[in-house]
Amino acid sequence: MASDLSSTLAEGRTSVSAAKSARLAAEIAEFADAVLQGLSKRPRSIPSRFLYDATGSALFEEITRVEEYYPTRTETALLDAHGNEIAALAGDVDTLVEFGSGSSRKTSLLIEALAGLDAYIPIDVSESFLADATKRLEAKHPGLNVKPLVGDFTRTRNLAGAPRGQRLGFFSGSTIGNLTHEEAKAFLENAAELLGVGSTFLIGVDLKKSLDILLPAYDDEEGVTAAFSLNLLARVNRELDGDFDTTRFAHTALYNDAKGRIEIYLESLAEQRVRVLGRTFSFAEGERIHTENSHKYSVSEFQTLAQTAGWQPVKAWTDPDQLFSLHLLRSA
Ligand SMILES: C[S@@+](CC[C@H](N)C(=O)[O-])C[C@H]1O[C@@H](n2cnc3c(N)ncnc32)[C@H](O)[C@@H]1O
Repeated sequence: MASDLSSTLAEGRTSVSAAKSARLAAEIAEFADAVLQGLSKRPRSIPSRFLYDATGSALFEEITRVEEYYPTRTETALLDAHGNEIAALAGDVDTLVEFGSGSSRKTSLLIEALAGLDAYIPIDVSESFLADATKRLEAKHPGLNVKPLVGDFTRTRNLAGAPRGQRLGFFSGSTIGNLTHEEAKAFLENAAELLGVGSTFLIGVDLKKSLDILLPAYDDEEGVTAAFSLNLLARVNRELDGDFDTTRFAHTALYNDAKGRIEIYLESLAEQRVRVLGRTFSFAEGERIHTENSHKYSVSEFQTLAQTAGWQPVKAWTDPDQLFSLHLLRSA
């Protein structure tokens, strides 16, 4: 009996680790495709989700603590001040689904406000970071059923094994700003399907503001944001047999007024050649790789976008300095 049990457990462990290795292999293949395609086209670009491996996620956590990076502390203060009102407006919520949950630190404020919450489903591409956040959350909220989902939230088509009942979505950190308007609309439409009729959705959205505040938030004095950006090239070296010299590229942030967004680039500081997976890419001095966008919205611009994707604005909250907004939406 004992040996039956231990062999069943061993088989279970083997299938879990086989599934994990298969996922890892698929993730590396996807990263390879994105990098080879992105470096071959003009202008060059690599999708921003690849910034978040374990090192990138840890560096993003450091960014949230730098003085110039106002979004995290402002959104946290909004959640702290309005959590109870948000919970009352959302009604009886059984399941909280978070997209791009990262460390889930802010989420605890929402979990505490939502009396009667049964389950929490954090979705993130950064697997080991998600696993650590899950352990912390389980310890902090005993009795809460935490079911992490590793994956790309733009391609999540079902919440496997998630309990039914009333759902509240949460998309914090203005991560929605990383998507273009078209991508954000498609994401919101898909989220409406995932969360179901009558569900609610709380979204943190960075507001348009003076460049004196905006630009330093994406290029801090300490260089933490630069380290976060450059880690993408180090990741290519680690995972795709690359030979990027990270001292010969510079993190660059600029504001594109016409598109209402911060654009992040890695700029080549010299004419150079780089090898990735056996292929050679030539860079001219000043040539850039586009790695991230962060779109900014006024409250009404975001409400209009949400409406086009089938969400009705319930209420929006902003801080006294008009830096950041929190939007509660209801699925139409
Ligand atoms: C800007 S951080 C915000 C983290 C957290 N929500 C916060 O407010 O501090 C973006 C998070 O989304 C995750 N992420 C980025 N793109 C993603 C994608 N396409 N699918 C799933 N997760 C993604 C990253 O791993 C990271 O944890």
